[in-house]
Amino acid sequence: MKKIALLLMGCGGVGRQLLHHIVSCRSLHAKKGVHLRVVGVCDSKSLVVTSDVLTGELDDAFLSELCRLKSNGSSLSSLSDFGECRVYANSESNNTILEIAALVGKSTGLAFVDCSASSETIGLITQVVDLGCCIVLANKKPLTSRTEDYEKLFSYPRYIRHESTVGAGLPVIASLNRMLSSGDTIHRITGSLSGTLGYVMSEIERGKRLSDVVKAAKSLGFTEPDPRDDLSGMDVGRKALILARLLGRHIDMDSIKIESLYPKEMGPDFMSVEEFLDNGILLLDNDVQERVKKASMNGNVLRYVCVIEGTRCEVGIQELPNNSALGRLRGSDNVLEIYSRCYSEQPLVIQGAGAGNDTTAAGVLADILDIQDLFS
Ligand SMILES: NC(=O)c1ccc[n+]([C@@H]2O[C@H](COP(=O)([O-])OP(=O)(O)OC[C@H]3O[C@@H](n4cnc5c(N)ncnc54)[C@H](OP(=O)(O)O)[C@@H]3O)[C@@H](O)[C@H]2O)c1
Repeated sequence: MKKIALLLMGCGGVGRQLLHHIVSCRSLHAKKGVHLRVVGVCDSKSLVVTSDVLTGELDDAFLSELCRLKSNGSSLSSLSDFGECRVYANSESNNTILEIAALVGKSTGLAFVDCSASSETIGLITQVVDLGCCIVLANKKPLTSRTEDYEKLFSYPRYIRHESTVGAGLPVIASLNRMLSSGDTIHRITGSLSGTLGYVMSEIERGKRLSDVVKAAKSLGFTEPDPRDDLSGMDVGRKALILARLLGRHIDMDSIKIESLYPKEMGPDFMSVEEFLDNGILLLDNDVQERVKKASMNGNVLRYVCVIEGTRCEVGIQELPNNSALGRLRGSDNVLEIYSRCYSEQPLVIQGAGAGNDTTAAGVLADILDIQDLFS
C-alpha cells in the first residue's frame, strides 16, 4: 500500500469536505493501493498534528470529530484533549510545519494542501517547496501574488497541482496543460468564471433589475456576505491571472484590467453593505439596463467574462453572441471557451458547476491522487 502523507492548511467548507472525501474514499483508494495519511490540520489559530508524523496519522474518528468541531465554529485548539495528537498555537505553527515538512518530505514525501483563503500561507509554501514537498492548492492567493513567489512555486512543476483554483472541480487546468504540452497554441480564452456574476448577468438579461437580482442572490446564499466582493471582479481577476500565467505570461495582478460593477464611491470604505444594498446599487440599475438593451439590439447578450488573448488580459462585461456557449449560459455554471490551433473554428468548451465545497474538494482530492507516483 502506497501511503501519501498530507498536511492540510484550512479547515473551512472546502477543507472539511476534503477530509470527508478522504474518509469516505478509504475502500476505493485501498483497491487502488493508496492510503492517504493525514498527519496534520491547521486553521487560522492552531495546528493539530499526529504524535508520530513519520508513520502515524490522525485517524478517521478523530478527523470526523475535528470536522464536527469546526462546523460548530470552534477552533482546533479545543481538540487538545482528544486522542494521540499535539496542538500548537498560531505562534508555533509555522516552525512546526517546517520541521514536519523537512522530516516527512525527506522520508516519504509530503503533500502540503492549502485550502485556506489566506495570503499568509504564501511564505510557508514557498519554503516547503525547497524541502521536497508537493503542493496542492484550492487557494488562489499563492498563485496570484508576486511573480517571484509564483516562479518559486513552480520550481518543480511536477510537484504542484491547483485544479480547484479555477472553475472548482472542472478540468480547466488539466485540459490547458494537456493542450500546452502537446504543442497546441492557445490563441484565446474567454470564460465566465464567477457563478455569482454568471447568475446575475443571465437574470438581468431576463428583464430583472441588477439591484433585485443581487439582493435575491444574496438571500439565496449565492454571494459573499458582502456582495461587492463578487461585484468587484477581483476573484475573476485572480482566476484570469492564474490562466494567463499558465499560458506563460509574465504578468501580475496590476497588469489585469478589471471592471468593477460598482464605482469606488460605493466601496466598503465609503458605504456599509446595508447602505449599498438599500441605496447605492439602485443607482446602477439604469446603466446596466441600457447596456443590456443595446446588446440585445445587436443580437448579443452581456456576460461578465475574462478574456485572455495575445497581450490582452481583462475582466469585465462583454457583448457576446447569444448563440455562443457563453451567450447560452444560464444560472451559476462556469463556462470556458478555448480557441487554439486544434480548436480554431469551434472552441473547446468546458462547462459545469464552478463552485461548491463538494466539487472543489473533489478537485483537490483528485490532484492529490494525481501526484501519488512522487511518493516513495
Ligand atoms: N468554496 C468554493 O466553492 C471554492 C471554489 C474554488 C476555490 N475555493 C477556494 O478554496 C479555499 C477555501 O474556501 P472555503 O470556502 O473553505 O473558505 P473558508 O470556509 O473561509 O475556510 C478557510 C479556512 O482557512 C483557515 N485559515 C485562514 N487563515 C489561515 C492561515 N493563515 N493558515 C491556515 N489556515 C487558515 C480558516 O481558519 P478559521 O477556521 O480559524 O477561520 C478556515 O478554516 C479558498 O481559497 C477559496 O477561494 C473555494
